[in-house]
Amino acid sequence: MPGYEVLGEEEKKEILEVLETGVLFRYGFPAQRKGRYKVEEFERKFAEFTNRKYALAVSSGSAALKVALAALGVGFGDEVITSGFTFVATWEAVLDCGAVPVFCGIDDTLNLDPKELPKKITPRTKAVIPVHMLGAQARIEEIMSVADQHNIPVIEDTAQSCGGFIKGKALGSYGAVGTFSFDSVKTLTTGEGGMVIMDDPNLYRRASEYHDHGHDHIGPDRGLESRSFIGFNYRMMELQGALGLAQLSKLKEMIDHQKAHKTRLKKILAGIKGIRFRELVDPDGDTATFLAFSLPDQEKTWTLKDLGKKVGLGLVYFFENGWHYYRNWEHLLLQKTASRNGWPFQIEDGIRKLNYPKNLLSRTDERMACLLVLPINIRMEEDIFKKAEQLVAEASKIV
Ligand SMILES: Cc1ncc(COP(=O)(O)O)c(C=O)c1O
Repeated sequence: MPGYEVLGEEEKKEILEVLETGVLFRYGFPAQRKGRYKVEEFERKFAEFTNRKYALAVSSGSAALKVALAALGVGFGDEVITSGFTFVATWEAVLDCGAVPVFCGIDDTLNLDPKELPKKITPRTKAVIPVHMLGAQARIEEIMSVADQHNIPVIEDTAQSCGGFIKGKALGSYGAVGTFSFDSVKTLTTGEGGMVIMDDPNLYRRASEYHDHGHDHIGPDRGLESRSFIGFNYRMMELQGALGLAQLSKLKEMIDHQKAHKTRLKKILAGIKGIRFRELVDPDGDTATFLAFSLPDQEKTWTLKDLGKKVGLGLVYFFENGWHYYRNWEHLLLQKTASRNGWPFQIEDGIRKLNYPKNLLSRTDERMACLLVLPINIRMEEDIFKKAEQLVAEASKIV
């Protein structure tokens, strides 16, 4: 899973090239930088890789979501639909720009269910954010079709699935905007970092300006640049751009290793009675960072989870996970905020009060209760495969 497993000479070479110039900032310093623009080069190569006209590098995957929402003009009073199985950053970004996250259930892909999506759309819906969770595709073509019928732009949160595709088309390149994370546990990592991709020049201009305090990036003197709206600092720095270049060149190889491990592990775990593997929209385009599967009921799932612990195989039970699953986001459900006056859940005159009942996504709860996930690394010792065989043997006695 994490690209830090293969950090090596390529990354060192790129980083040293930056250090030789002493220029860490992505803009300016033309005389000192010896023609080296690492962030810009990373953006160019990433745009080519995803076959989009524009790529804008940012400081994180969370920042990428903020920038995407701002580029689309999402703000106070708007609603944004996303899935109840995602990392908290997806809806934090929505709340942070003043809009309201609306949660939709998941289907057998473990991603936003296009059949449930129409029920969540209201006149206030200003964006849909499907998330390609656990390395693999949402039914993005169906989701696009629903969103297009209602003229609602789609932001694909591709933080967990960089390098994934459907029939050769990159994940993140379906919606109006695609966002990526390169944080320290992602396959392509720059330590912290992210990317926003799009085809529309106007969206790119707005994203580029918003992520850099509104700078229009026109003219030779940064200090004299003008602006058309307020922004913030979500810039990527040159060292991250350098890492990104080296890591992008290795991405296919990293994914190929993961795929080989996943195929082997899937074959072994298929020996567990009643096991059902997650549905993949296009198995070839899976980035293979996780092997997700379900058991017929919650009791069997618990039993297998405990057996995993016994044989030393770390299975993630997202049903109990506080960072990726609606039911456990108690700070959201109880509307806890750092703000003295209750923003963004309430406003001072009391007009706005959001409602997030714990049992909102009961069908998703049923799915999650029976789901177990095995993380796949780029490098996996033989020991892991032996433990998987042990798990199957133990399970055959009980499950
Ligand atoms: C689905 C999803 N969206 C957004 C993010 C945020 O990315 P970052 O950690 O780079 O801010 C993550 C991070 O794990 C994620 O999994």
